[in-house]
Amino acid sequence: MRKKIIAGNWKMNLTHSEGISLFSEIVNMVKDEKNGNQTVVICPPFIHINSLVQLSNGIVKIGAQNCHEALNGAFTGEISAKMIQSTGAEFVIIGHSERRQYFNESDELLTKKTISALQNNLTPLFCIGESLEQRNNGTYFEVLKNQLKALTAHLDATDFTKVVIAYEPIWAIGTGLTASAAQAQEVHAFIRSTLAEAYGEEIANQTSILYGGSCNAQNAAELFAQKDIDGGLIGGASLKSRDFTDIVKAFNF
Ligand code: PGA
Repeated sequence: MRKKIIAGNWKMNLTHSEGISLFSEIVNMVKDEKNGNQTVVICPPFIHINSLVQLSNGIVKIGAQNCHEALNGAFTGEISAKMIQSTGAEFVIIGHSERRQYFNESDELLTKKTISALQNNLTPLFCIGESLEQRNNGTYFEVLKNQLKALTAHLDATDFTKVVIAYEPIWAIGTGLTASAAQAQEVHAFIRSTLAEAYGEEIANQTSILYGGSCNAQNAAELFAQKDIDGGLIGGASLKSRDFTDIVKAFNF
C-alpha cells in the first residue's frame, strides 16, 4: 500500500519560539486525528529542526526544506543531508519551485541533492510543477515529464522506491488558485504512467505522489479522494495548527 503523507512546509517563517509553540500545538492536535496509515511531516527552517525533533514524540516527523549536495566542506551558509540526518530529521524537500526559481537550482543539481539525501537515509520530497504559461500553452505534460526524467535517468529502481514526488503547479502555490481535483488527478495519473515507463508498473504503483498548491481544509478532502493523490505538501495552511490538523483529518480514511 502507498504511504499517505501530509507534509507542512513552513518556508522562511516563524522565529524559534514561535516555531516551538506552533509545533507543540500541531503535535497535540494531530495525535488525536491521525491514523496509523498516515505520515505527518513538518518541514521548518533549519534552525528549528533540532528542537522540533525533541518535541515530536514520533507523532509528527521532521524534514528540512533543502540540503546541499556535498557531505561537508567549505560551503559557507549551507547545510548537508548528513547534518540534517544527524538531528533525527527524516525528510527533505528537494526542488521546490521557489528553489528552482529564486536560487536557480537546475535539474542536474537537484539530482545530486536527491542522491545525497538518499545516501544519508533521508526521504526526498521531490517537487515538480509547471508555470501558468506552460499550463496555458499546453506544454505542461512535457515540462513535467522532463523534470521527472532528469531524476529517473540517474536513479535505479531500488533508490527510486525511497523517493516521494510532490506535484506543485507553480500557479497554485500561495495564490489561492488550487488545481481542481480533476486537474490534479489528471497530472498525478500522468506522473504515475511516466514512472511506470521508467521503472515498471509495480514501482509506479508504490510511489506516493503528493499534491501541493493552495491546499486547505476546504479543498483537501476532494483532492485526497482522487485515486492517484497520496497526500499533500501544505504551505500557508501549515502555519495554523487548526487548519493543518483539519487537512490531516480530511485524509483520515
Ligand atoms: P501553499 O504552498 O500551500 O501556500 O500554496 C505550497 C508549497 O509551496 O509547498
